[in-house]
Amino acid sequence: MRLDSRAVHAGREPRARDPLAPPIVQTSVYVFDDLEDYDAVADGRRPGHLYARNSNENVAMLEAAVADLEGAEAGLATASGMAAISAAVSTFAPRPAPVVAAADTYGSTLGLLRQDLAPLGYELRVVDTGDLEAVERALTGAALLLCETITNPLCRVTDLEAICRLGAAHGVPVLVDNTFASPLLCRPLEAGAAAVVHSATKYIGGHSDLVAGVLVGDRALVERARARVIRNGACLGPFEAWLAVRGLRTLHLRMRRHSDNALCLARHLDGRPGVRVVHHPLLENSPYFEVASRLLPHGSGGMFALDLAGGREAVQTMLRRLRLVRFAASLGGVETTVSYPDLTSHRSLPPEERLARGITPGTVRISTGLEDPEDLRRI
Ligand SMILES: Cc1ncc(COP(=O)(O)O)c(C=O)c1O
Repeated sequence: MRLDSRAVHAGREPRARDPLAPPIVQTSVYVFDDLEDYDAVADGRRPGHLYARNSNENVAMLEAAVADLEGAEAGLATASGMAAISAAVSTFAPRPAPVVAAADTYGSTLGLLRQDLAPLGYELRVVDTGDLEAVERALTGAALLLCETITNPLCRVTDLEAICRLGAAHGVPVLVDNTFASPLLCRPLEAGAAAVVHSATKYIGGHSDLVAGVLVGDRALVERARARVIRNGACLGPFEAWLAVRGLRTLHLRMRRHSDNALCLARHLDGRPGVRVVHHPLLENSPYFEVASRLLPHGSGGMFALDLAGGREAVQTMLRRLRLVRFAASLGGVETTVSYPDLTSHRSLPPEERLARGITPGTVRISTGLEDPEDLRRI
């Protein structure tokens, strides 16, 4: 099946007399008649579920669907995107080791590496993934390289093919956060990544009504990560998984409209008075245009950023004037929203580091929704 049809059907094959829509299996535990049966399910010799921290029908459906769309052997759903990232990093690097992270990585991911893992002895090597020589130097002896397909908030596109080639040459697995692109626009495993994580809170769920994460990769890796999540308890609940699967069924349609609307709005705002820069990788003047056109031939999703010349005050004025669009510190929903990285996603980074990465007091991140583009031009 092609990708669009897989978005509609992945993870489920209803049999005769099954409900067409999947039921929500809202239980913490499952019943058994005898010890032998329980033992066989616990050992994986028979299919089934024991306890909702270990597995559940709705969670398994989400895992299978995202794995299918990403072209992975297996998936693991978690309580949030951060739980998926945390499970992935600690599975690739179960004991203190050098971890290479793209300088543009989402603020909380860098926070996890700096505040939780570095004190345990992990060595964090932050690199500009646009500088392949620097990446190569950082890879020596590393346990993992972590990067994002499209970075938050400046929407720089990582050359995943080049990065994965370097990772392979140095025997370092590459973990890609594919949240901004979704598997409908980019499948990092095809470029050579070892595993992919998502904040399913964003485009996979797509309606700003759940928090969830997914890790996909080869079965052995995913099962090692699953064992960790069963122990640390960062599991996903059945209702969130059900909502995420419901969202995923329209991911192909949404990603197309998000991409079209974002590019249309970015073009509309580019060059307007007071707008210093529009960071959209598919604007012809973007330094990422070539790599984005190659890696994201069907669009780059709904995210882009603006740098307003008037700094924080200009952002405040803009927010007060907005009518259709609201300030909200998440992304990937059906409504267009704006966020302010200085106070939200990148709050945990020191101001000088934000500036060094191009996030200024005038940076506004836009998550373009599914409205009519004509209305968006008048936001
Ligand atoms: C790129 C990216 N990765 C991971 C996360 C973390 O996801 P969650 O909030 O679901 O834990 C976010 C959240 O904004 C994100 O933008």
